[in-house]
Amino acid sequence: MTSSAKITEVGHILLDKKQPLKDRFRALFTLRNLGGIQAIESIAACFDDGSALLKHELAYCLGQMQDVRALPHLTSVLEDKNQEAMVRHEAGEALGAIGDAKAIEVLEKYINDPVVEVAETCELALGRLRWLEQQNKKLSNSTQDNPDNKEEDTDLLDNPYNSVDPAPPARVTAVKELEATLLDENLPLFQRYRAMFTLRNLSTTEAVLALAEGLKCSSALFRHEIAYVLGQIQSPACVEALSHNLRDLAESSMVRHECAEALGAIATPEAMNILQEFLSDSERVVRESCVVALDMSEYENSGQFQYADGLSKLESTSENGKVATPIQAVSS
Ligand SMILES: [Fe+2]
Ligand SMILES: [Fe+2]
Repeated sequence: MTSSAKITEVGHILLDKKQPLKDRFRALFTLRNLGGIQAIESIAACFDDGSALLKHELAYCLGQMQDVRALPHLTSVLEDKNQEAMVRHEAGEALGAIGDAKAIEVLEKYINDPVVEVAETCELALGRLRWLEQQNKKLSNSTQDNPDNKEEDTDLLDNPYNSVDPAPPARVTAVKELEATLLDENLPLFQRYRAMFTLRNLSTTEAVLALAEGLKCSSALFRHEIAYVLGQIQSPACVEALSHNLRDLAESSMVRHECAEALGAIATPEAMNILQEFLSDSERVVRESCVVALDMSEYENSGQFQYADGLSKLESTSENGKVATPIQAVSS
């Protein structure tokens, strides 16, 4: 079978509403790993699905692929007020993740969107694109003897999780200092996110506990991102904090969803038992997250070679050379 025929086959699994959701997710991550225009088009063809969870994941994957050919699809999703807030949010974030200045215009248009998660996402994505522009300028001036080159953003911790994040990390300082920035609701979200990603990259238990404090902050978008990074770290030290927000029925479903997926990534028996409890939650996005999260837990505990096995069936070569593990696969 040619590679193109194989992508078509996996694209059909993704598009098929009768397939179990967990198989459609694995098909999506397989397409993401393969990359290229045909994979992008197959993913984008699913934005009329009934599952907000699946659609937000499509947007996330398109962002992580960092291919400018996805920009028009993501722009239409951000502009479509009939899409759920969580899906529009993820499209906005993906527009920032691709890292191309062409997205600035549409992001500026929605910076005051009445849906607060969308407005905050556009603010962050613009922050990222402007930061990238500045970095590029500094790089192009680096041959001249410019004292600005020694500025704060030259010495940042590497991201060990291979995700394209909505903000770069901040410079490393004491955990207490990073925590103070993280939790200061008077600071710009972009600055707080930068502290969040440094804490994530440090990933010590002290950093995890500082991050978990963020689950009490007032912005739902912020809380969902905290849950996402806690899922990346996979530390059992935050199972209690994550399950607290998952159990809170007054919590935003976007946050509860992210807590469920983080618990799936942590995959301890306690975390998996909590997920079982919410398989019949009244919120569809929470129920579905538990299904996908338990599938991820199964992967974590099974030693299966590759989560994105839509093509296990296929060799796992990707056009961009990147292959996502399940933890990298699941969206913020
Ligand atoms: Fe998100
Ligand atoms: Fe998510």
